[in-house]
Amino acid sequence: MDFNIKNWILLFVLCCSSISLMVAQNPLERQPINRNKTLQKITFGSCNNQAKPQDYWAPILQNRSDLWIWLGDIIYADTKDMNLMASKYAKLKNAPSYQLLRSKCPIIGIWDDHDFGANDACKTYPKKSESKELLFNFLDIPATSPARVRAGAYQTYTFGPKGKKTRVILLDTRYFRDEIEAAPIGSGKKYLPNPTGTILGEAQWKWLERTLTESDADVHLIVSSIQVLPTQHIYEKWENFPNERKRLISMIERICPKNPILLSGDRHMAEISSQKIAGYDAPLIEITSSGLTHTRSKNKEEVNDGRIGQTVIDRHFGVLEIDWDQQPIRFKTEIRGLDNNVLETFTWTY
Ligand SMILES: [Fe+2]
Repeated sequence: MDFNIKNWILLFVLCCSSISLMVAQNPLERQPINRNKTLQKITFGSCNNQAKPQDYWAPILQNRSDLWIWLGDIIYADTKDMNLMASKYAKLKNAPSYQLLRSKCPIIGIWDDHDFGANDACKTYPKKSESKELLFNFLDIPATSPARVRAGAYQTYTFGPKGKKTRVILLDTRYFRDEIEAAPIGSGKKYLPNPTGTILGEAQWKWLERTLTESDADVHLIVSSIQVLPTQHIYEKWENFPNERKRLISMIERICPKNPILLSGDRHMAEISSQKIAGYDAPLIEITSSGLTHTRSKNKEEVNDGRIGQTVIDRHFGVLEIDWDQQPIRFKTEIRGLDNNVLETFTWTY
């Protein structure tokens, strides 16, 4: 048979289509969560519009991290239609590049407002329990998990052996959060502070207190979709509920968990913030990584007296490395761009 160049091209196209069809029909098996594994490198991110190109999973994979943490806005659902929300999760979960990550790297996560159901939404969002089911299905959380049974989406995971143990605490800042009032137009503010309302709700506060008190972990990653330390910008943040913010910081100061690190998203940019708190020699560090598929278009002058380095408005993801061989344990964080290039970095010990 005369197998000319046209035939070869046809064969190549057929092979490619069959491979993509196989991937679409048979999702790759997910990498299970291995709680015995010592976490040395963690990658994380947020603000992922499933309709935009999912083109950053390859650079994320290049980091060969031990864990991927979603910091919220996993999809832009923005709907009360649960079929539509489910289809948006399915679109992401079936994206071949995300399937590859899911097959190589364990994944955990929590929601923010857009995957919860609506922009800046709170406890009044009417489909919150249905939305939680879809989030937990997307994250492959087992039916037996205690987090499935209780209200809200907060979870905790412990990784690694004694002496190299990392506890990840995923806070739910949406399900129980009280409303905040919009500030008057022309006031220069977006929201009025709510000094009596709650972000976490009492059940989650009690759980957090117990989780931190009982923890024998050496490193504690506390994930909050909205920023904790920055107080000066006008957007969503813990400072909009000033007494809740004080309560969280004084809880950390009182219980003094070893090596606490805050991770947050939501802001469509990245920054590293710090604040001196009681009980630790070095300031508490918060890494904000928000912008997998989109970020703000201009770098506004935004005051954050606790900021270390610069804000990053290029699309990015976060990396945290834990050097267990150093005493005290040494941490390095990086904000990396789509070419896996380092856009911002900071190294510290507590
Ligand atoms: Fe958000």
